[in-house]
Amino acid sequence: KVFGAGDVTSDGAVFDRLVQEGDTLMLGETPIGVLHTPGHTPACVTYLIDGAAYVGDTLFMPDYGTARADFPGGDAATLYRSIQKILALPPETRIFVGHDYLTDARDTHAWETTVAAQRAQNIHLRDGVTEAEFVARREARDATLPPPVLILPSLQVNIRAGDLPPPEADGRVYLRLPVTEA
Ligand SMILES: [Fe+2]
Repeated sequence: KVFGAGDVTSDGAVFDRLVQEGDTLMLGETPIGVLHTPGHTPACVTYLIDGAAYVGDTLFMPDYGTARADFPGGDAATLYRSIQKILALPPETRIFVGHDYLTDARDTHAWETTVAAQRAQNIHLRDGVTEAEFVARREARDATLPPPVLILPSLQVNIRAGDLPPPEADGRVYLRLPVTEA
């Protein structure tokens, strides 16, 4: 618990539709497949559309690696297993990543790669990297990363599907900001 009494929780009712592994959504005539790919967060999914995988925050570009796994409900071993599901797709599958933070060696943004490129080149878990090796590396790196500046307000709005919290007794809407450890 981060936010104390009245903590931020959701039963999912605010979302139009919740999906799980194996579901198919229709976008017009186009089917969208769903893989559950937790690890960065418990709710992360990958969407499969017409030979492409939209992987959210799991894999990033091969020269950057993978998403952090230290957010609430995140877990490096879970992320490893989720990514194995993505890497088991056909090698030519196009992968579209959820962020690109650039690297010391690259200053132009990229967003598209392939399963084959990830398996050959991903700096965190190309073929041959074991789960134990990945978890050790991921957890060591996560220990050095500061929390995102907007993580606390983002959590409180995302959990409500983009809505703000309900007004309090004075009619104002507040976001909570803890300033001490429990
Ligand atoms: Fe994220």
